Amino acid sequence: MDRIRVLLIDDDPDDFLIVSDMLAEAENARFKLDWVRTYEAGLEEIAKKGHDVYLLDYFMGSHNGLELLHTAAQKGCKAPAILLTAYGNYSVDLKAMEAGASDYLVKGQFSAPILERSIRYSITSKRIEEELKESKEELKLLASQLLRAQEDERKRIARELHDSIGSSLSAVKFFIENLGARLTENPGVQDALRALSRAMEHAIDESRRIISDLRPSMLDDLGILSTIKWFCREFESIYSDIVVQKDIRIEELQIPQKLKIIIFRIIQEAMNNAAKHSKAGQILLSISLQNDSITLCVKDDGIGFQRGAPASKGGGTGFGLTSMRERAELSGGKFEIESSPEGGACVIACWPIVTMCRP
Ligand SMILES: Nc1ncnc2c1ncn2[C@@H]1O[C@H](COP(=O)(O)OP(=O)(O)OP(=O)(O)O)[C@@H](O)[C@H]1O
Ligand SMILES: [Mg+2]
Repeated sequence: MDRIRVLLIDDDPDDFLIVSDMLAEAENARFKLDWVRTYEAGLEEIAKKGHDVYLLDYFMGSHNGLELLHTAAQKGCKAPAILLTAYGNYSVDLKAMEAGASDYLVKGQFSAPILERSIRYSITSKRIEEELKESKEELKLLASQLLRAQEDERKRIARELHDSIGSSLSAVKFFIENLGARLTENPGVQDALRALSRAMEHAIDESRRIISDLRPSMLDDLGILSTIKWFCREFESIYSDIVVQKDIRIEELQIPQKLKIIIFRIIQEAMNNAAKHSKAGQILLSISLQNDSITLCVKDDGIGFQRGAPASKGGGTGFGLTSMRERAELSGGKFEIESSPEGGACVIACWPIVTMCRP
């Protein structure tokens, strides 16, 4: 078994001797102990990242072990640290924990087996913590790739539909109308062709709607503000019992290009949610630039989120809320939902201009 590399940072030679004896006594693990006496020498050693665990004295001249922990963490040190203190109490314990220590032991009150166990537990729990952190990062990356792939795929399908089905439908409609004009003598055929032409028109409208839903080309051609206006008009014509109020206090050029599709998708989902779940009569959609942040807010006056929600009920995937949050956070923003039974629900996304749109 590999030896566990321990660094003791402590100005007291007696402590070095005690720890050294204890580690030599341990039956189930072998240790290699290094020792430095000062805060500065400790930082230097930690920066080399050559140890599996640090034992830090609480008092180190003008510095203390907690400061060392903070600085080491800032420098990317990933090994666990155990604080050794002469005076243990609950508040020191809490402070050590908050500073990221894996454990704290009171000098004179621990034995070789306790020290050995504390080192073992610290190393394992730190490893699990790091693995969790990495999995979280991986999940974030995957989610961002998924959303980007979804957006690319939607764009591709919209283009395909437009170029293939869209243009064939228009050609058939033109052909039917042309035929009708030539078959003047038979009124029965004329009526049938007119009905066919209307059906074609309906199919064309439907395919345009599907294409726009997939990726509003208006977003690329006319910009986000025109697209929002168009979307609200469409929305009100479908959900005629909901009034949409818009409060837009931002210019097109103030919204970064990458953020436009994200803002549009959040509005689309938040408004569709309000229509599907909230029983609202009014939706207030606001977007503004204030204090170097872009804030988007979609507020309805409906029933709000029910207690214990928001898991999806009634046939939805329940992916809507998660994807709004992911879209906002992955583009450097914050996402929040406020809800009350009297006040309806309010979806808020906010992007500080400096950190915006990382991926
Ligand atoms: N504006 C709202 N008012 C009241 N409840 C809401 C509102 N928005 C969402 N909810 C609740 O939150 C749940 C989760 O919403 P989410 O958008 O994640 O899923 P969904 O709308 O049910 O499904 P999908 O979005 O996949 O079609 C909804 O099922 C609903 O119960
Ligand atoms: Mg939804």
